[in-house]
Amino acid sequence: MKDQAHTLRKIFKDGTARTPEVISVTSGKGGVGKTSIVVNMAILLASKGKKVLVLDADLGLANVDVMLGIAPRLTIKHVLDGECSIDDIVLTGPSGIRIIPASSGIQELADLNPSQQISLVNALDHFDGDFDYMIVDTGAGISRNVMYFNAASQRIIVVATAEPTSITDAYALIKVLRKHYGIKRFDLIVNNVTSKSEGDHVAEKLTLVCDRFLGDVALEMLGSIPHDKSIPECIKAQKAFVGVNPNGDAVKRLARIADRLEETSRASTSGNLQFFFRKMLLNQAKGTSHAGYRVHGTY
Ligand SMILES: Nc1ncnc2c1ncn2[C@@H]1O[C@H](COP(=O)(O)OP(=O)(O)OP(=O)(O)O)[C@@H](O)[C@H]1O
Ligand SMILES: [Mg+2]
Repeated sequence: MKDQAHTLRKIFKDGTARTPEVISVTSGKGGVGKTSIVVNMAILLASKGKKVLVLDADLGLANVDVMLGIAPRLTIKHVLDGECSIDDIVLTGPSGIRIIPASSGIQELADLNPSQQISLVNALDHFDGDFDYMIVDTGAGISRNVMYFNAASQRIIVVATAEPTSITDAYALIKVLRKHYGIKRFDLIVNNVTSKSEGDHVAEKLTLVCDRFLGDVALEMLGSIPHDKSIPECIKAQKAFVGVNPNGDAVKRLARIADRLEETSRASTSGNLQFFFRKMLLNQAKGTSHAGYRVHGTY
């Protein structure tokens, strides 16, 4: 009732209830560029006038804030402990992107008791951000935590590189999400490629194994991003690469991917933040039968 009333208030206030499209960015293998993509894509979308919220959901590892050189004082754990509200923990990054630095409180998020779950959803209900997108930076692998976030999102972007282990791990991740969570649609970004054709080749390989072994999975290639030596330098300098090298190939390709995301938007009325967290908590309550571990995938 409460969130219904809140939505109605929003409709009366601005004529529409804006519901963010929730997109998770995930990978089987670690270190393939998820956080770099999340941060820089969020900034690109924001520079096109979109309101973007980034959820740093990489368990125990602060990522997004470190990449941008901004330090959170409080995390979602403080919200759960009733010490502050969501508004108090949200950080502001380049181009006005907002960031929830959930990483250091997220373990608790998976172990909430029912009253804490309600207080989290209520806290989110009062967080009136009016976002177009919430982009979730998940950890790597197929742990339950990663799966909750993916299963609660409307769109799952799998990031892979041309390394064989990255491709087999991407397949393992897709397989778990298909078999245990019933998810059939995925997007793909191939990062760190030496040529566009290398990216296309990875997409073909992955599509082939998905078709062969999973049958009904649709994998949409969003695009590839070239290897760019300025990216690690930007990370060391704690700066977003879209701001440092805006005319570079990597930025242009990422901008095309951001355009594609907009063109193929999957926003729906069920895409608000409360819905996302409810779904995540529900997935957790239901429990799943797969073991949470990292694998080098076998077909
Ligand atoms: N296109 C690229 N060209 C060159 N280096 C890149 C590129 N993309 C990412 N990197 C480098 O790869 C490293 C890993 O990137 P990043 O931290 O974004 O990966 P991740 O998938 O978030 O890792 P983790 O799984 O540990 O969270 C960083 O040092 C980054 O600079
Ligand atoms: Mg990361």
